[in-house]
Amino acid sequence: MSKERKALQKRLNTLLAVWKVNQAITSTLKSKKVLFQVMDAVTEIMKADAVTIRLLSKDKKRLSLKAAKGIVKEHRLKKRSIRADDGVAGEALSNGKPAISGNILKDKRYTYFPWLKKEKLRSLLCVPLSFKGRKIGVLSIYNKKPSFYKKEDGETLTMFANQATIALENARLFEELHKNYLSTIKTLAAIIDLKDKYTRGHSEKVSYYSLLMAEELGLSQRRQELIQYAAYLHDIGKIGINIAILQKPGPLNAREWAVIHQHPLNGSAIIQQLGFLKELVPIILYHHERYNGKGYPEKKKNDEIPLGARIMAVADAFDAMTSTRAYRPALPRKKAIEELKRNRGTQFDPMVVDVFLSALAKKKK
Ligand SMILES: [Fe+2]
Repeated sequence: MSKERKALQKRLNTLLAVWKVNQAITSTLKSKKVLFQVMDAVTEIMKADAVTIRLLSKDKKRLSLKAAKGIVKEHRLKKRSIRADDGVAGEALSNGKPAISGNILKDKRYTYFPWLKKEKLRSLLCVPLSFKGRKIGVLSIYNKKPSFYKKEDGETLTMFANQATIALENARLFEELHKNYLSTIKTLAAIIDLKDKYTRGHSEKVSYYSLLMAEELGLSQRRQELIQYAAYLHDIGKIGINIAILQKPGPLNAREWAVIHQHPLNGSAIIQQLGFLKELVPIILYHHERYNGKGYPEKKKNDEIPLGARIMAVADAFDAMTSTRAYRPALPRKKAIEELKRNRGTQFDPMVVDVFLSALAKKKK
């Protein structure tokens, strides 16, 4: 291959890796996951034997490890932060540009972690991570060969550093947003739970079981979030129902049942008003539908019922069965599992029941 072809190929590989990372950024909002994708791309393109991402402490005095790849004794790196103005990483951070060491064994700047030298790492290249002019950390790569990294490698690594920064900042914002949503939603859920002493903590547990299934099914981050929100709010429509009906110890009469049957509709109407939660409407509206079409409010069946609502139905029923109610004591877990199996394919989506039982079994291990 000619020199030009080689150079072109190198550029293309870099672009491809950059594109892959961009895809990762837009398809996942979890900072850890994005960082590992950035590190994978860096390893491949920069031929790195090890990669570390360190972030500045709040007081800007220390750099502590956020993620690492290729370091055998990674736990030791995690234990101790380094001074923000020291070493090769410190130099990159202070000068705001790449810093290179041809051989950390012979480099006077490299005073930290003598044991790290035993990992046979020699070359080191550090670039600063900064966001909107604010320094936030350092991205470092190591290679086992001495004098491996050159000045132009600093430029390429800076490109990845920019991506890592955007990813970190995006993830932080999304995580904050999710936290804000969740706390608003939990407050709403607490209001529902307060109303009925027997269902206290119900929304929290339905949320836990629903997330178990959503994860087991490998649903996207966004859908998992929606299912979690819906779980907290599925019974919000009970807010207008008289406590005497909700807590009635005996069986309900026809009129009382009619009132209870209204709660999915009332709940979805409440959620409809909260623009940003509109996507939860079908889950809340259909959480009492049954797989065989004998549920309410619309007698939908099979796949006509949204997956989120089918998940909710299993989580809701399982927690209801295993909790004490006004009209009966709690069922042992084993019995509740038998009930789910007995109603598999009639009340519940068989696939969802299977997913739930396998997720539960894994949790037990
Ligand atoms: Fe309900």
